[in-house]
Amino acid sequence: MNISIQKFVRDKEPQRYIREYEIPDNSTLLSALQHIKAIDDPTLTFGAGCRSGICGACSVRVNGREELACSYMPKHGDHIEPLKYHGIKRDLMVDKSRAKQTLKTSTAWLHQSQKATITTKDEKLTELQSDCILCSSCYSACPVFAVNPDFLGPFALTRIYRYTADPREGDIKSSIDAIQSDGVWDCTLCGECTAVCPQGIDPKMDITMLRGTSSQYGYMDPNFGNMNFGFDPNAGF
Ligand code: SF4
Ligand code: SF4
Ligand code: FES
Repeated sequence: MNISIQKFVRDKEPQRYIREYEIPDNSTLLSALQHIKAIDDPTLTFGAGCRSGICGACSVRVNGREELACSYMPKHGDHIEPLKYHGIKRDLMVDKSRAKQTLKTSTAWLHQSQKATITTKDEKLTELQSDCILCSSCYSACPVFAVNPDFLGPFALTRIYRYTADPREGDIKSSIDAIQSDGVWDCTLCGECTAVCPQGIDPKMDITMLRGTSSQYGYMDPNFGNMNFGFDPNAGF
């Protein structure tokens, strides 16, 4: 069967073009890419590590949808592209440093450790979020980056939620303060991040929870004041 791959090279002038390749049946996309590199096109460049869905290095887009190449079984006619909103180094290999910078900007860590008893229920609350493999698939799928490249994005906000829900965090306010600008209120709650996550994490739900916590700390949706209700909400109903 055949698949097509978007190639991108910067040798002299940056050049983007699509090339078709024949691949063996019944192999993962990552094995197919390795086959192409060995047999057909030694220049083909892509990310890979664990080959088992753990390291997050092999994420690409297949027919416009984010997939881990080591888990995806290709079909005839599939079109493979690099992740969106990442600088392309070459072919399918992207620079993920900007996406990972969102963890730093959002201060996605424990701010002030306090003594606390962790129950099994507490563990369950953040177990899934702790499984993020930083594959950047949700970042690539998020439409907000098309209009706001400074958006903190799904995996950073999910990580922030993980710490605000941790009983050992003694300073939830610092986390909440850090995600007000280009953060929780910029999300459209479209759910694309949740749909593509290979780990089954639900950043949309985590962001909804963070909005609730933000309200508890006195924040509100900055767009709320600009909304047109068709009536004066303060008119004494
Ligand atoms: S739910 Fe929010 S964070 Fe997730 S993809 Fe949509 S806009 Fe982006
Ligand atoms: S939340 Fe899911 S899609 Fe996003 S980086 Fe983590 S594992 Fe990947
Ligand atoms: S190679 Fe590690 S997740 Fe695919």
